[in-house]
Order: sequence, then C-alpha cells, then structure tokens
Amino acid sequence: MESQTNRRVALQTLGAAAISTQTKRILGANERIRVAVVGVGGRGTGHVNEFMKLDCHLAAICDVNQAAQERAVALVERVKGHKPKVYGDMRQLFADKEIDAVSIATPNHWHALATIWACQAGKDVYVEKPVSHNVWEGKKMIEAARKYQRIVQAGTQSRSTAHKIAAMKLLDQGAIGKIYMAKGLCYKRRDSIGRKPDQPSPPPGVDWSLFLGPAPMRPFNELRFRYNWHWFWDTGNGDIGNQGVHEMDIALWGLGVKTMPKSAVSTGGKYLYDDDQETPNTQLASFDLGERQLVFEVRGIVGPEEGPLKSRGGNVIGNIFYGSDGYLAVDNAGWWLYQGPKRELAAEGKAERGDTAPHMDNFLKAVRSRRVEDLNADVAVNVLASNYCHLANISYRVGRKLTWDPSREKFVGDAEADALLTRKYRPPYVVPEKV
Ligand SMILES: NC(=O)c1ccc[n+]([C@@H]2O[C@H](COP(=O)([O-])OP(=O)(O)OC[C@H]3O[C@@H](n4cnc5c(N)ncnc54)[C@H](O)[C@@H]3O)[C@@H](O)[C@H]2O)c1
Repeated sequence: MESQTNRRVALQTLGAAAISTQTKRILGANERIRVAVVGVGGRGTGHVNEFMKLDCHLAAICDVNQAAQERAVALVERVKGHKPKVYGDMRQLFADKEIDAVSIATPNHWHALATIWACQAGKDVYVEKPVSHNVWEGKKMIEAARKYQRIVQAGTQSRSTAHKIAAMKLLDQGAIGKIYMAKGLCYKRRDSIGRKPDQPSPPPGVDWSLFLGPAPMRPFNELRFRYNWHWFWDTGNGDIGNQGVHEMDIALWGLGVKTMPKSAVSTGGKYLYDDDQETPNTQLASFDLGERQLVFEVRGIVGPEEGPLKSRGGNVIGNIFYGSDGYLAVDNAGWWLYQGPKRELAAEGKAERGDTAPHMDNFLKAVRSRRVEDLNADVAVNVLASNYCHLANISYRVGRKLTWDPSREKFVGDAEADALLTRKYRPPYVVPEKV
C-alpha cells in the first residue's frame, strides 16, 4: 500500500491543485451516499435528475462553465430544497472528504484522467461512455480502479435495461443457434455543424484551459465547446464512440466476446456536409473474431430502415444478431426473435422503461456492498467496447486494415497506427503511466 505522503506527492505531480487524502468511509446502513456530478451539461443534468430520485444525497456539482453550475444548483434547490456545493476544478472536489462518489459526464477526453484522480482520492466513480478517449487510457482506468479498490461503473445503461438483458439471455441460451455475425447500427441523423471562427477569448465564466484539459491548447471555438466537441478528434470519438459505443457494447455482450479482435478495418467519410467537423458521418467497420464477425455501421445522414429494425424518429439504432437457426433484433423499444426455416417472428419483448435510474441504482448498491461483481457494467466492460470503437477510428484515420497483437498490445508492424493508441497529454493533465 502506498503511503499517504507518496499519494499526496503523486497527486501533486499529476497537477492536483488541492492536496487530497483518501476518502474511505465505511457506510452504515442508514447513511446516505454523498454524490457529486462532474460536468453538468446535457447528460450531467440528467445525472443530477436521476440521482435526486435515488437513495443518495446530491452533495456537490462541478463544471468549468459558471452558467452550467448555476443551472445545476438551481435544479437541485428546486427539487430537493438544498444547495449543493459548487466546484469549478474537479481536483478540489476530489479533495473534499465529504464526497463518497462522483459521477462523470464531461466530454470524452476527460473521462480517464477524472476517473483515475477520483480513484486516487478514494472516491467511487460512475463514468459516462465511452469510458476512454483512447486505448491506453482504458488500461490505466482499470489499473486505478483495482489498485485503489474502487467501484467504477461505466455509463452504459443498456446493461441494466430489463428487455436488453432478456434478449441477451435468449442469445446465450441458443435461441438463434450458433451466432456467426453481429451487427451494430447507429443510423442517427446529425445536421451539419457549419463553420465558426475561433474567438479571441472564451465567454465569461468559462475556464477554457480546464475544458481542454489533456487536449492541446487552442483558441476558443463555439463548435468545440457544447456537444459538438464529439466531432473533433482532440476531444471526441465521432458517432461510433458516441451513440455507437452503446450498440458496440451490446454486440460484444450478445456475442459473449471479452477480448480484442484479431483485426479491424474501417472506411467511410464525411459526406455531403461542407463544415468544420473532423470525424466521419458515414462509417463502416468490420472486426474479425475468428469464427465470427462483428460489423458496425454509422450513418449520420437519413437512411432507410434496416431489416427488422424500424426507424424511430428517423433513426435506426440497435443490433441484429445472426445465427445458424434464426436471428434476433434489439433496440430501445424491444426485441424480436425470428426462427424456423422461413425465419418467422417467434417471440418478442417490449421495453418497459428507458431511463438510467436502474443503472445508477445498481452503482449505488455496489458502492454499499463493495463488490465489483455486483456492477452490471464494471469499467472493464466498457473499456473493451470503447476499444473496438477506437480501433475502428484508427483504421479509418490511417486508411488500412489493422492486425492486433495481443501480447504487445499494439498493432502488427504499424507504428503510425500505434501512435494513435494514446495521445500527447498537455501537462499537468497527464494520464500517468503509474496510477
Ligand atoms: N449514457 C448516455 O446515454 C449518454 C447520453 C448523452 C451523453 N453521454 C455522455 O456524457 C458525456 C457528456 O455529454 P454531454 O452531451 O452532456 O456534453 P455537453 O457538452 O452537453 O456537457 C459537457 C459538460 O462538461 C463540462 N466540462 C468540460 N470539461 C470539464 C471539466 N474538466 N470539469 C468539469 N466539467 C467539465 C462542460 O462545461 C459541459 O457543461 C459524454 O461523454 C457523452 O458521451 C452519455
């Protein structure tokens, strides 16, 4: 076990402004878990809303944008009648011994560092998907969770969604025979983001340097700020690593795959739109899993329905599994099982609820039990799904098929692709080699 002093030094080296000692409270049966939400934009506001419904105390919020802080505080005051503590710098929040667990809904490029710092400070963590921004970060997140014996749940709520669990069980029980292919579909309409010039300074109340964190410093640009940061490689992972990582996770879940693919290839482009977006809006990826194949497709421009998956509000988002004896489709509305020589609809299940509360409740229960096995989506589960998205993006960016070498955890004979397995971190926002 590291000494307290060493841990302090380590945190300082990492750039922690506030010195932290570990929070290791043993929760009594009647004690409430004190939760803080980090990043209270679109999704973080959802986190605040969900946690307020659950058996915990929404004790603090943190955001680099003062306007977002104020909105979140007003929301908690309105619903719960108390004022949560407010932080602008997550390092100060992590140093607060009155916080037991943190829920991270920042942009993707912050997920790993925030999780690692929180684990070092003795907090349990709920972290949004994709849990990592690159492959190397995922490995470090798992190391930190295990080393500091923290409960770290990934924000893939499908893992706690009853009809999806039921569909996966059917596959496991052999309902479609031997599965030879899984398809993940993310046909989600996205408008062109247009073009916007850089600004000489960020809007008042925004700490732009903290927003960029591990990413290179650059002038403020509105397009790289709210939500659209998804479409720039410095901060996002395109739609395959946004909406897509949910369906990638379900594809791997249904196939029962727990390892990296033998190879990955992905092609596509940013078609029709003439704008500042860097990531593709149309992307096809294929992964070799030995005797099976995983195919993933992103279409940001309106497309047709796909086989048994219906268009919902113009989007087709779900999974299809193909087996020797039938096929099964699943999306947010339900699941459909087709069997027999003519592949007729044999059974179906409807979704009952679609919110994230059961997944967060599962997290809070594991925080109490201290058993990683109780989590429906331990961090490692989404490190794998995120890695499949990262491999697809690396193949897309270098423009060739990549073969994975599991012993070296690198690609076979491809230094250019290897370089994209990690990033150059901007000090002091560095994901450490030794967590
Ligand atoms: N599980 C789901 O279904 C789901 C749905 C939507 C979004 N998400 C995930 O949630 C995350 C946030 O997405 P969003 O749509 O809310 O984006 P957003 O741009 O609306 O919000 C991000 C917020 O984080 C804040 N922020 C940035 N850097 C920060 C830092 N260092 N410390 C504190 N706050 C910081 C921003 O100011 C902003 O308020 C993403 O990773 C996304 O993939 C998950």
